[in-house]
Amino acid sequence: MLRFCILFILLGLAQALSASSYYSPQTPFKTSHKPADLPQLNPTHSFWIDSLGANPLADEGSTGTLTDAADVCIIGSGITGVSAAYHLANTVKSERFPVPHQGTKVRAVILEAREFCSGATGRNGGNLTPYEFFSFNKIQSLFGHEAALRFYAVEDYSVAEMVRIAKESGWADEVDLVEGGHLNVMLTESDLSELQEDFASAIAAGRNVNASWLSREEMNATFGTYNWGVRTPGYNLWPLKFVTQLFKQSLKITPQLDLRLHTHTPVTSISPANSASPSVHRWTLTTPRGSVYCSSVLHATNGYASHLLPHMAGPSGIVPVREQVVAIRAAAPPEVLSTTSWLGNEGYWFPRPLEPSKSTPLVILGGARSAAGPPFEVDTTDDSVINGNVGIVLRNFLPEMFPGLYAPGQEPEAEWTGIMGFTSLDIPFVGPVLSSHSSTPPNLNIATLYKGQFISAGYAGHGMPRAFACAEVVVQMILDEFTGTEWISPAWFPKPFLTWVRDDEN
Ligand SMILES: Cc1cc2nc3c(=O)[nH]c(=O)nc-3n(C[C@H](O)[C@H](O)[C@H](O)COP(=O)(O)OP(=O)(O)OC[C@H]3O[C@@H](n4cnc5c(N)ncnc54)[C@H](O)[C@@H]3O)c2cc1C
Ligand SMILES: *[C@@H]1O[C@H](CO)[C@@H](O)[C@H](O)[C@H]1NC(C)=O
Ligand SMILES: *[C@@H]1O[C@H](CO)[C@@H](O)[C@H](O)[C@H]1NC(C)=O
Repeated sequence: MLRFCILFILLGLAQALSASSYYSPQTPFKTSHKPADLPQLNPTHSFWIDSLGANPLADEGSTGTLTDAADVCIIGSGITGVSAAYHLANTVKSERFPVPHQGTKVRAVILEAREFCSGATGRNGGNLTPYEFFSFNKIQSLFGHEAALRFYAVEDYSVAEMVRIAKESGWADEVDLVEGGHLNVMLTESDLSELQEDFASAIAAGRNVNASWLSREEMNATFGTYNWGVRTPGYNLWPLKFVTQLFKQSLKITPQLDLRLHTHTPVTSISPANSASPSVHRWTLTTPRGSVYCSSVLHATNGYASHLLPHMAGPSGIVPVREQVVAIRAAAPPEVLSTTSWLGNEGYWFPRPLEPSKSTPLVILGGARSAAGPPFEVDTTDDSVINGNVGIVLRNFLPEMFPGLYAPGQEPEAEWTGIMGFTSLDIPFVGPVLSSHSSTPPNLNIATLYKGQFISAGYAGHGMPRAFACAEVVVQMILDEFTGTEWISPAWFPKPFLTWVRDDEN
């Protein structure tokens, strides 16, 4: 695949140096090769995490004895790490994951540097939107027809599964899961025609697209903004509450899995397990509370991944990028604002379900990173600060987009930042950790420097509809490596996401 290779080098670099993501403006940036720092200990306060009673697992397992060893060690308690625990529980339940010794259990542990789910998942925009056709032309030209269709299929799969689990388990309301649909708002005719071309190409490629187009007049009459719109399916939710419920459910799936969670336990280094430990344990994770021996390790650390994997720093790896969000009170009632989530003009937002004591909803709004100016919040894991210039744009955003529906000058009720993991071409790394970008291990059992370490990270600001499915894939790989089975890709998984394919020379 020479074409892919050349494209990767040319576009890959150009792309890596632009801050493009589905949620972010195309802003050029330079990035260093400095590994990410550990998560900051005093982050800004997010509405999701810091609302009263919202994070019952915040300090779970932070005191007492640290788990000494596990078959699978998961680093990070966001949507990726907890989804991985959920999938692992299901593989154990179905007896696909063999219990190591008669009468024992499969042991898994999640290690989290700060409070439970206090990374991007606890600080994001709350949109769960599977993209229907956005960027189709770009993705098809980069990755080809077949892979392009899978870029959308993996999101359809992820979102459908997340919604099914929440509904079947009876906690959809508890996590404020709202099927509000998604509206992409276009301010210019060129934005409109670009999306229309993506739409046409997706249909031509055989994708079953669900979209309805709205004129400026229709948009103005229905929503109070005189811009073009296209409506697609989508959800909004309280991400931390979803992850909390998913974790609690994972504990109950099978008694054959011993699943532990240790918050406030940063992993500071990973080294080969010493000979004193049982041979099944290949790695030692070091934390300030002691060591954990692990057979397999999953990096679910997203923007922070290069702290433990310094060779993944820089534009060909995962670059931490700070993003800002406000929670701002609307001046119009829910009937007028609808329950839709929106994307446009460098912002993304949705009105939350109305609190009983209020007459107008709280709106969660993120984006506007280009207002930060160079270097556009790139190369930082510091979510303990907010950017004043971004804050100004976010404050004016809604009153300008919807005249009369928001009070100009209204101060947000909360404002915070979080860290995304950007990658070249906006695609995550899913699979075994590789030591360099020249490896080609289609066989998981080939010995590499990092044998037994896996990663699912780098969702480029669009992780909610992708992480759950990527975690399922990587858990299957961990299992297959364990049992010496060949990994087979699900039909919905895009090959370019695989750690070994980005650099595939064939
Ligand atoms: C402000 C903002 C808005 C966003 N809006 C949206 C949106 O609306 N919709 C959408 O789809 N996506 C959005 N995203 C992206 C989305 O939130 C992420 O893609 C997704 O949450 C990533 O999940 P994760 O579990 O991989 O990473 P995270 O949620 O970041 O979890 C990683 C965890 O690992 C922990 N950790 C890191 N290093 C270590 C270590 N060495 N030891 C122990 N623990 C460690 C961190 O503390 C963190 O809790 C947004 C992101 C941000 C920051
Ligand atoms: C949008 O609708 C409002 C209220 O109906 C109306 O006053 C305004 O003139 C409309 N804007 C445009 C540009 O048509
Ligand atoms: C299309 O999306 C709308 C919501 O935006 C939904 O009501 C409808 O059922 C969807 N149709 C299909 C075929 O998925």
